[in-house]
Amino acid sequence: MVKSKGWDWTIVKDDQNSIWKNPSIESFYLLNRWQSLNFKNFLDLGCGLGRHTVLFAKNNFKVSCFDISEEAINRTKKWCEEENLKCNYKIGDMLELPYEDNSFDCILCRNVISHTDTKGIKKNNKRDKKST
Ligand SMILES: C[S@@+](CC[C@H](N)C(=O)[O-])C[C@H]1O[C@@H](n2cnc3c(N)ncnc32)[C@H](O)[C@@H]1O
Repeated sequence: MVKSKGWDWTIVKDDQNSIWKNPSIESFYLLNRWQSLNFKNFLDLGCGLGRHTVLFAKNNFKVSCFDISEEAINRTKKWCEEENLKCNYKIGDMLELPYEDNSFDCILCRNVISHTDTKGIKKNNKRDKKST
């Protein structure tokens, strides 16, 4: 059986200098690339504290963020509200995504897939093959 478990974000402070509050280097490349392709609907899969959610929402993407950790979603939502950004927030397991096929133009799933076990990764692969 696949065991899904989120991060315990309660032990991570809301420090603006933390790596978890600053977008990863490659996300700026993806932002430019996806803007140039006129992509709009973006999923931050396993959003954590929301560093990519905020980046893409500030750049006019229609952002959905998803995480198994309630703490992660609550803190992402709080940050978005402070920035006056509207996003769609959902708590759940990435192995059972609650979205319709083709809901998104682009998905960022950074440092997340590795949080499942081998069975979970195989389950994701099987689903990918079905949808191609
Ligand atoms: C290392 S953090 C990365 C957070 C974010 N992607 C970032 O780059 O800042 C991994 C995140 O994946 C989430 N996660 C782990 N397993 C998950 C699952 N099965 N479904 C949804 N989210 C999951 C964790 O709760 C955590 O917020």
